[in-house]
Amino acid sequence: MKALVLAGGAGSRLRPITHTSAKQLIPVANKPVLFYGLEQLRDAGIVDVGIIVGDTRAEVMNAVGDGSALGIRVTYIPQDAPLGLAHTVLIARDFLGADDFCMFLGDNFLLGGIQDFVKRFQDSDADAQILLTEVAEPQFFGVAVLDDAGQVVQLMEKPKDPPSNLALVGVYMFRPVIHDAVRAIEPSARGELEITDAIAWLIGQGLTVTSHRVSGYWKDTGRLQDMLECNRQVLEGIETRIDGDVDESSELVGRVVVQRGARIVGSTVRGPAIIGENTVVTGSYIGPFTSVYHGCTITDTELEHSIVLEDCTLDGVGRIEDSLLGKSVTVKVDRRAPRAHRLMLGDHSVVTLP
Ligand code: G1P
Repeated sequence: MKALVLAGGAGSRLRPITHTSAKQLIPVANKPVLFYGLEQLRDAGIVDVGIIVGDTRAEVMNAVGDGSALGIRVTYIPQDAPLGLAHTVLIARDFLGADDFCMFLGDNFLLGGIQDFVKRFQDSDADAQILLTEVAEPQFFGVAVLDDAGQVVQLMEKPKDPPSNLALVGVYMFRPVIHDAVRAIEPSARGELEITDAIAWLIGQGLTVTSHRVSGYWKDTGRLQDMLECNRQVLEGIETRIDGDVDESSELVGRVVVQRGARIVGSTVRGPAIIGENTVVTGSYIGPFTSVYHGCTITDTELEHSIVLEDCTLDGVGRIEDSLLGKSVTVKVDRRAPRAHRLMLGDHSVVTLP
């Protein structure tokens, strides 16, 4: 069995971060969200992995390399335009060959792995297998309708009037017959070849599509609040580990990870929280559910329920909450008159002032 992992796409709902970075590489508890999926595939025994890359291919290729560090073998498959999930199956035809495969959306996060789902598919004679979970806003997802026996009878992509609250999770299992489906369907109203339509085509042909419920935590990390919630969930599971320096005047409360080369000086870190390699926290409070990545300098600042990417500088800014800061961001206080907000923000930045 092979895997097809999708790491292209524009990530428009996470701008401006995604103007320069792949959304799949945003760290959750200081590990790119994509890596969780790749490790779960490996743990399910799938090591032959095709990764679909788009505009951010250089960054993804740089982070994942040949996959050996993650225990997988990676083949990169470039997608020139975001023409849909089913389109990625079309262009991966040579890589996939005659094998069964698991398609995994690189921005999807599943707590608890996929071993069980992979095994169930391998043990079954289903033509495809989907994962479903109940969501509050099904209109933003692919939606499934099941009959009384639990068979999938209908699938729709982002219906205005959802007939059920069962959303498609971005982990699918396919037999090679899916290649016929992706060739048979037409682009949707949003101009994309939808994998949901391809699976619906299988059902229309009388083929068997089974479904399983995801009982554990699942998130499509496409938006800021999802990213922060996912970070919170993963941090809930961390264990204390101090590989950096914590001075005597600092206090660590609860489960805190201080990575190699990090320094905590005259500060309080209330876990669950993670402080990245070579980050220096001075005279600050880092609150629960916060991940600070490598090489940051945080001085005289309070930070809570946030994700901070590498090489950021925060200096004397009071309190920051519910925030996602991209790489090399500086937020500092300027005491010159006139007292004003002086900003240089990238396109699509969002600033919320108290
Ligand atoms: C895609 C699929 C959708 C699925 C979702 C899960 O949507 O098209 O059916 O429910 O992933 O994350 P997208 O995130 O591309 O809008």
